[in-house]
Amino acid sequence: MIAPRQKIVAFTGNTRRPSRSLNLAALIARRIQAHLDADYRHLDVLDAGPGLGAALTRKQLTPEALAVVEAVEEADILVAVSPVYKGSYTGLFKHLFDFVDMDALIGRPVVIGATGGGPRHSLVVEHQMRPLFGFFSALTIPTAIYAEDASFQDDEVADPAILARVEAAAVQCAELARAVGPRRQRGEGANTPAEQTGRVIPLKS
Ligand SMILES: Cc1cc2nc3c(=O)[nH]c(=O)nc-3n(C[C@H](O)[C@H](O)[C@H](O)COP(=O)(O)O)c2cc1C
Repeated sequence: MIAPRQKIVAFTGNTRRPSRSLNLAALIARRIQAHLDADYRHLDVLDAGPGLGAALTRKQLTPEALAVVEAVEEADILVAVSPVYKGSYTGLFKHLFDFVDMDALIGRPVVIGATGGGPRHSLVVEHQMRPLFGFFSALTIPTAIYAEDASFQDDEVADPAILARVEAAAVQCAELARAVGPRRQRGEGANTPAEQTGRVIPLKS
């Protein structure tokens, strides 16, 4: 049986467009696509709309905000990038993940990245983003990407060292995604309670 095309979902924590974070995530996704047959969809905090910040519970999410949460939960491969605000990911980036089902990203490849004004907060990717996806038991790709203002030209990544990291992360992600395979759908051999919900996929045996 031919495996279905994998779905790359990029979610970015930018609160404005144009956005360097959005462009970095799009670049990462395109480079993954260069190594893996996959569809790609991009969503950001603005797609979720004001209903994201206003919600304190999942039931209070507006349809726009819920659609973004569900897209993240259904990703085969997640690209998660945020601008650095006050030394961390943006509040609304984290707020979105506060609504994501805690089982939804188990065993899913996730590429993490961040953009900031300067070099001082480059370890945000290691000290804040990686532990977040550790909570979700995701398979976070070893190479994380941080790009500062000076790494961009016209809001696109131009620094060869950052481009090389993007390529390394994309290759690692594509190899891992091929090994893991796409998310199994309900009824397709799900064998743990979490898989039976249709959301959680273990590594191929
Ligand atoms: C409210 C706010 C807080 C910021 N805090 C930081 C910070 O703590 N460290 C940093 O390096 N850059 C900081 N920046 C700069 C942004 O992280 C940087 O310009 C980023 O690339 C913007 O991404 P975007 O184009 O996706 O919005 C801040 C910007 C804003 C608007």
